[in-house]
Amino acid sequence: MAEQRQEAVTADLVIRNIGELVTMRGVDHPVVAPVEKDLGIIRRGEVAVKDRKILYAGPRDSDTFTVGPKTMIIDAEGKVVTPGFVDSHTHAVFAGTREDEFMMRLQGRSYEEIQAAGGGIVRTVRATRMASEEKLQDVLRRNIFKFSRYGSTTAEIKSGYGLNTEEEIKLLRVIKEVALETDILIVPTLLGAHVVPPEFASRRRKYVDLVAKDMIPMMHENHLAVFVDVFVDAGAFTLEEGREILRAAQELDMPRKLHADQLGEGQGAELAAEMGCVSADHCEYTTEHGMKAMAKAGVIATLLPGSTLCMGQKRFANARALIDHGVPVALATDYNPGTCMCPNLMLIMALGSLHMQMTPEEVLTAATINGAAAVGRAGETGSLGVGRDADLLVLDIDDYRELPYRFGENFVRYVVAGGGVIKAPKVFKKKYFKDEE
Ligand code: NIG
Ligand code: FE
Repeated sequence: MAEQRQEAVTADLVIRNIGELVTMRGVDHPVVAPVEKDLGIIRRGEVAVKDRKILYAGPRDSDTFTVGPKTMIIDAEGKVVTPGFVDSHTHAVFAGTREDEFMMRLQGRSYEEIQAAGGGIVRTVRATRMASEEKLQDVLRRNIFKFSRYGSTTAEIKSGYGLNTEEEIKLLRVIKEVALETDILIVPTLLGAHVVPPEFASRRRKYVDLVAKDMIPMMHENHLAVFVDVFVDAGAFTLEEGREILRAAQELDMPRKLHADQLGEGQGAELAAEMGCVSADHCEYTTEHGMKAMAKAGVIATLLPGSTLCMGQKRFANARALIDHGVPVALATDYNPGTCMCPNLMLIMALGSLHMQMTPEEVLTAATINGAAAVGRAGETGSLGVGRDADLLVLDIDDYRELPYRFGENFVRYVVAGGGVIKAPKVFKKKYFKDEE
């Protein structure tokens, strides 16, 4: 009896002639201490996309799909293809910039000093409260477009420059509006507990209550935020306050993140572990005790070396020790007007190698599948497995190790996000990138 062959599906998009196809083995979980085999590299590969999902990712000349008259073909010209990058920590919705504070830091003033003198986050809060939703949408669109030009196909975006219920809702609504019009996957996070706003300075308790009892239930009920984040550090929230806020999120089953141990040893990592956070972010001052707690609880360390660099801090997070203790590491930009105005996750990967001794395999994993896991989307993006979202990049390099090695260059030739090829819409070209076109 003749074998019945299943009819091959016609692909919508095919990326052909790939020299090095980095699949991350199609896994859907974070990877600790990745080595080359974990990248699941296929030499001379191809990828097919159907209905915005990966239909095939493997060696060339597969008979699992066909090419029809409407199939779009991209010739990778023997270059590297990777999953789209995941920027798992950004504060990309804000008004105004703070280059004057940057200048002050160059003259030796610290981030904490500037904040104590009335600068820092609260300045951006003042400007952001004054800005209209339209204006903030415009800023966010522009920032997301920048992320995508550097290869990020997923971005977590935090609120945190509103700092009262109404203004935090405004920011999360802006994020939602923009998320609905882009192929970039957006994950919204409530950071109502960024700092205590000045009007609550003598009533901290009231502000913690406002976040825990008003903002969190409100955002949850209205589906405006997926994650809840808290900045636990000197000048922001105490461990006890952080615990209370995270508990309110936990009670509603909202996944949690924590800005931990950025400015000093504060047992943020231990709190993240205790509260079952998906990630603890920054971790410059995380102790061995904190690392062990994170490893045990499966907390991802999201490291943000762009902000460490921009703040002029001497101490970068100890990525090597975190990895050695069994903690999965993600890398993100932390894009924000105070501590990192860099939208380029490839440069952050280079900093991961140059300042934190991470290997090329570790930085690539940190910017793909581990970032996806840090935003709860490892089943959808961050690796190239059949059925996953078609988020991938054609990069102008021959070997993935060039990513951290040839730092500062934009290797992105094509960005495929949510199954579609991202082009520069005319509005962006005209309005934002006139000088670059
Ligand atoms: O992640 N650490 C707290 N938040 C930001 C800084 C925000 C700002 O300075 O506006 C960060 O570095
Ligand atoms: Fe941050």
